[in-house]
This record gives sequence, C-alpha cells and structure tokens, in this order.
Amino acid sequence: MSNIKRIAVFTSGGDAPGMNAAVRSVVRTASYHDLHVYGIYRGYQGMIDGDITKLGRGDVANIIQRGGTVLKTARSQEFMTAEGRQQAYDTLLAHDIDACIAIGGNGTFTGAKIFNEEHGIPMIGLPGTIDNDIFGTDYTIGFDTAVNTAVEAVDRIRDTADSHNRLFFVEVMGRHSGYIALHTGISSGSGSIFLPEVDNDIEGLITQLRKSAKRKKLFNLVIVAEGNQNGGAMEIAAKVNERYKEYETKVTIIGHLQRGGSPTASDRLLASRLGFEAVNQLVKNSDSGALGIVNGKTKLTSFEDAIIKSKKPKESLIQMAEILAL
Ligand code: F6P
Repeated sequence: MSNIKRIAVFTSGGDAPGMNAAVRSVVRTASYHDLHVYGIYRGYQGMIDGDITKLGRGDVANIIQRGGTVLKTARSQEFMTAEGRQQAYDTLLAHDIDACIAIGGNGTFTGAKIFNEEHGIPMIGLPGTIDNDIFGTDYTIGFDTAVNTAVEAVDRIRDTADSHNRLFFVEVMGRHSGYIALHTGISSGSGSIFLPEVDNDIEGLITQLRKSAKRKKLFNLVIVAEGNQNGGAMEIAAKVNERYKEYETKVTIIGHLQRGGSPTASDRLLASRLGFEAVNQLVKNSDSGALGIVNGKTKLTSFEDAIIKSKKPKESLIQMAEILAL
C-alpha cells in the first residue's frame, strides 16, 4: 500500500471526448478510497498559476456525457522551463498533493515524465487524444468518438457526392497520425486514404481513378489525414485536378468538428476503466507511468516508452483498406 492520500487530476493538450468521463471516474474512485482529490484547471498552466480546486463526488455529476473537458486544457509553454515546473511544484506542495493523474497525449506525457524525474512526484498518465497514437494502449480516450463523428460526416458527403457524381477530398485530423483517416476511410468505404505514415503517390490515385472510370465504378471519396506529405486535402485535390479533369472535385475539411461532441459509449467505458485503474494503482504503490488497456488488460508503460515508441496503424489494415476499395 502507498501512503498517497491527496491526488490531483488535470487534462492537458488537445481536448478529447471522454476526458470528462475519466475525471469523473478518478474523483469517484478516489472518494471511495477516502482520498482527497483536487482538480487543476488548464493543465500544466493551471498548475503553475495555482488554478486548483477540491473536487467531491457531486462535482463530477452530469459530466460523463459531455464532450470537451470541464477542467479546461492548455498547451503550456511555461511548463517547458525549469522555473515554470518549480512554480507548478510549489502549487502542489501548497495543497499537500502526493500524486497526479494527467490526462492527455504525447506532450502531456513528456511533461509528466520530466516533472516526475525533477520533483519525484508520482505521475500517472491516461491516454486522452483523438489521434490514438500513444504506445502502450490499444485505444486512446476520444478516438472512437472522433472516428464516429468523421464517418457520420463522410456518409452525408457521400450522399451528395453520389448524386452529382463528384469526387470529394475529405480532410480529417492527424498531423502525425493516420489512425483517424484509416479507420474513417475503411468505415465509410472510401476509394483511397492518404496517411502521414504512407508515401502516397498522386500518380497512383490518378491511375486508380482512370481504372474505376473504365469499369464505371463510382469513386466519390478520398480521405486525407491533415499531415500527409503531399499536403492537406486542398493541395491534393489541386494536384489531382491539374492531371485529371474528368471529375468535378470538392474539398471538405472536417476540422475541429471531430474533436467535440458527446463521447461514444466505448470512449466513456474506456475512460471510466482507466480513471478507476489509475486511482487503484496509486493506492497500491507510487509507481509512475502511462496507463493503457492492451488486449483487454490494464498495463502501466514507462513514460519513456509511451512517448518514444510511437504507435502506427498496422500495415495489414492499410493493405486491407486498399483491397476493399478495389
Ligand atoms: O492532437 C489532437 C489534434 O486534434 C490533432 O489531430 C490535430 O492535428 C491537433 O490536435 C490540432 O490542434 P489545435 O486544436 O491546437 O489546433
């Protein structure tokens, strides 16, 4: 058993649907164990500024279904400096905080790792990002909701694309990660998917368009991850237009629409499980690391591995997507 009695929870980096469910789970589980819980607003920046408040069971009522994060979030530049981190630590000392639960993505985990090394405060990271690019967990909180939102949008686009026989380039989020694009592309039956991890070739797409036209196969949708090396959907559509004029093309950028909205049941469940296990972990011992669920089981991965060993979409899934689109 650890001696941890007072914990703080915060969300940091890009918000993700399901973060509130994780906060609720942390607070309720901590209350069950008679621990005191503090919520820090605006992530590491709020920790520096002393923006912290005590949370009880009732404070997290009616938030499980809400998107965004009630604790707000930020990408703090100040926390990247040793002075900033010292100020943040002073806030924790002033409130006698023994450990923190940080919900966020890669940047959040990097901050947690440095903070833990510098000040010795136990830190548990929960994977909260729509990008699903965190090593040490099969899925991140928010990914399922973002994909469902994108698929719903693409289904609507397909209706109008089909009616006019137009070719749509739909851009989804993912500067460095193609998970949203791949899962959205497969689930919406798109003709082609451009990922940051793949060296997609415009010429290949044009050949595919020509072949489809010959077979009179409808080809309405190309899903583009914002971080593809050919550029975003605008750039790719322009490049295709220059070389292939048979289709009228349109571009839709889904953007932040896919970050908001009520979390799916799957994200609420994942977030609830992770919040619950994070507190149980801190009750047991004061180990730090990133908590995830791998093959149905919770697993604590070192921050180092979670940050460095980036997770990429499986090659076999990318190949499957190509075969299904033929
Ligand atoms: O990391 C989550 C994410 O939504 C990425 O997919 C996207 O590239 C980025 O955040 C956008 O960040 P911001 O909201 O700060 O523009």
